[in-house]
Amino acid sequence: MGTRAERYDTVIIGAGAAGMMCAAHALRGSGRVLVIDHARAPGEKIRISGGGRCNFTNLHAGAENFLSANPHFAKSALSRYTQHDFVALVDRHGIAWHEKTLGQLFCDGSSKEIIALLLDEMAGAELRLGTSVDTIARHGDGFRLGVSGGDVLARHLVVACGGKSIPKMGATGFGYAIARQFGLDVTETRAGLVPFTLDPAMKAQMAPLAGVAVPARAACNGAAFDEAVLITHRGLSGPAILQISSYWREGEEVVLSLLAQEDLLGAFKQRRRTEGRRQVQTVLAELLPRRLAEYLAGTHGITDRLGDCSDKRLGEIVAHLTRWPLRPAGTEGYRTAEVTLGGVATTGLDARSMEARRVPGLFFIGEVVDVTGWLGGYNFQWAWSSGWAAGTAIAARG
Ligand code: FDA
Repeated sequence: MGTRAERYDTVIIGAGAAGMMCAAHALRGSGRVLVIDHARAPGEKIRISGGGRCNFTNLHAGAENFLSANPHFAKSALSRYTQHDFVALVDRHGIAWHEKTLGQLFCDGSSKEIIALLLDEMAGAELRLGTSVDTIARHGDGFRLGVSGGDVLARHLVVACGGKSIPKMGATGFGYAIARQFGLDVTETRAGLVPFTLDPAMKAQMAPLAGVAVPARAACNGAAFDEAVLITHRGLSGPAILQISSYWREGEEVVLSLLAQEDLLGAFKQRRRTEGRRQVQTVLAELLPRRLAEYLAGTHGITDRLGDCSDKRLGEIVAHLTRWPLRPAGTEGYRTAEVTLGGVATTGLDARSMEARRVPGLFFIGEVVDVTGWLGGYNFQWAWSSGWAAGTAIAARG
């Protein structure tokens, strides 16, 4: 303890999306800022995000697109640093972007441009990569960190070390341990935005469908998403499945509704008038991928000719398409999850500054907090907004 320690105003653990954004804004105060990361490069998740193009925000981002024990918590940061603020920053850096779908904004070029933007914005901060934090202790009004390469002192400590998703990339859950050490609650954590696995029998039954992609509504626990569903050789994936996985709990059913946007019954009745001699299965194969049409016809015994179907029978057939219940065996877990649900309980944090209510000077931002966005750029927006909230609060203290 008596050894010399280097003194900083602010130390940020984690050079990811939230940590770098926070550093850029904390720097606007008068103190020195240090960012520590055990990875060899900053922003590794940004680099691999959005298929290498980084879905950096969503035009429609609002608190309703986030899961949290307190759905109101994210409102303050999201409304004070919005998606439009981040788009303006991207524009200032001359990064070209486009809207892909559903308000999702991607770089035209590469996600590395977003990392370069953040490094440029935080250029006045010191960045120590390949560095781990071994111990953290209260030191006067601030903190003393045992860091590989020597102790450091910090007036403000910002925990931005993300969630548990993709351990191969260095995700550790270290932030939750820091929260517990300082007496903050941590809500149950689980994998989110993650593919479902199927039990062996169902996997074998659905094996012929591997590779089929179809637009569908996936629903569970009062939430529903209309996007693509992809049937894989491991189970179920695609955006609609990833979205609903965040709402699903072990043992529950997910209901798929194929062609949910269309008036199927109306379409079948119409065709019955003009194409009565055709098999229902043949007509289905014009509406759905052929292998899926064959599978559904096989499993539901649909062998009728259209002209032979009563209204009631057509209703039954449509019900098979629009209410397809599936019970996942589980998820692929943190190995492939895009995010970690749950985390540092918002009850212990100030929504304006992200500071721990009972531990002045200690901040939690980004994915480590119990705020988790939908698929589509929402998680990065939370990282920018919460990082900004903590950074500006720190800078305002001079
Ligand atoms: P983030 O994980 O970015 O950063 C945490 C940092 O802390 C890392 O650099 C890590 O090395 C470091 N760290 C961890 N433990 C440490 C320790 N003990 N000591 C020191 N450092 C430590 N979101 C989105 O909005 N749009 C998208 O396109 C995508 N795409 C996407 C693809 C994939 C494959 C994944 C896995 C995730 C996404 N996401 C996404 C989610 C998004 O990447 C995620 O929500 C943010 O990166 C969270 O930002 P944070 O800064 O909180 O954590």
